[in-house]
Amino acid sequence: MRYLVTGGAGYIGSCVSQHLIDKKHEVIIVDNLSTGLKKNIPRKSQFYKINIQDKKKIRKIFKKHKIDIVMHFAAFIDNEESVLKPKKYFKNNYLNGKSFFSCCIEQGVNKIIYSSTAAVYGNKNKRVSEKDKLSPMSPYPLSKLFLEKYLDKNKRKISCIILRYFNVAGADQNLRCGFNINKGYNLILNLCRSVYQKKKLIINGNNYKTKDGTTIRDYIHVNDLAEIHYKASKLINNKKVYYKLNCGYGFGFSVLEILKEFKKISKKKINFEFGKRRKFDIIISISNPSKLKKLINWKPKHQSLSHLVKSSLNWFNKSYKKNNNKVYK
Ligand SMILES: NC(=O)c1ccc[n+]([C@@H]2O[C@H](COP(=O)([O-])OP(=O)(O)OC[C@H]3O[C@@H](n4cnc5c(N)ncnc54)[C@H](O)[C@@H]3O)[C@@H](O)[C@H]2O)c1
Repeated sequence: MRYLVTGGAGYIGSCVSQHLIDKKHEVIIVDNLSTGLKKNIPRKSQFYKINIQDKKKIRKIFKKHKIDIVMHFAAFIDNEESVLKPKKYFKNNYLNGKSFFSCCIEQGVNKIIYSSTAAVYGNKNKRVSEKDKLSPMSPYPLSKLFLEKYLDKNKRKISCIILRYFNVAGADQNLRCGFNINKGYNLILNLCRSVYQKKKLIINGNNYKTKDGTTIRDYIHVNDLAEIHYKASKLINNKKVYYKLNCGYGFGFSVLEILKEFKKISKKKINFEFGKRRKFDIIISISNPSKLKKLINWKPKHQSLSHLVKSSLNWFNKSYKKNNNKVYK
């Protein structure tokens, strides 16, 4: 099959592209490198440095390559920044995404996988399933939800799976691609920075009603997520479907539990302090992945926390300039 992947120089898009190429498929990547990395782009893909909003250039690509399936990853993803700059998120994630999807539909490319986020559910004190009420708490998930709604409106014209990712971590198993170590803010990245750059970790809030007072997240390894995309693409290719599926393992870890695992694996002291709660932070975010497992027959392979931490540290270490060549096994 021939895939068009937007955001394929980014963290998840590049790992999924690599996985598709490993499965002997063809991948065309569209990315403007606003947050993505050139070195992430798989060698065997074709790359176009284009903004997804540029309909003229996107049409040209559709005319040149007969695309079977589109995977749309391109977006801005910094939740904290979205609170400060909501318009930036509305423009790129919703308006540009809408322009891109309308171009796909106009060109008859109607098999679509869209990367959404579990943050559309907001705060729920339980494992969330796809039927749960949606209540995004900040502009980032709201912009992602707007684009879901655009697909809802066009669902008769397309075969589509919307994947709502929980927290993605780890890197490609052969360390060919992974997250950008210089951009963004999330716990895994900050813990890698603490280990390698001795940066102090600030934990936002330690008085939540959870087992140890810190927030809890369901982390999914990017290799498992890549396999989900592959299986989902086979499904939309074989029949006309319209699904929204949670992508997580169904269990979560607190900030302090993750910190403890980083300490154990790296054998380094991690300098941290407790900071204030942030208004937009979700307290507990855990998936109920039953629908995903049933519909695409997915079995996780990388769910151990130690594997997830080692994989993240190995990627950071490889990308970090002062590489000390340590590989965690
Ligand atoms: N990382 C996570 O934990 C997570 C969780 C939930 C959902 N998601 C979703 O997954 C997708 C990918 O996230 P990621 O972590 O790989 O982010 P990322 O920032 O690493 O990748 C996004 C890519 O999109 C590109 N891009 C952005 N705007 C563009 C535009 N207008 N035109 C062309 N390219 C553009 C960037 O250059 C980058 O390469 C996003 O849609 C995000 O909302 C990610």
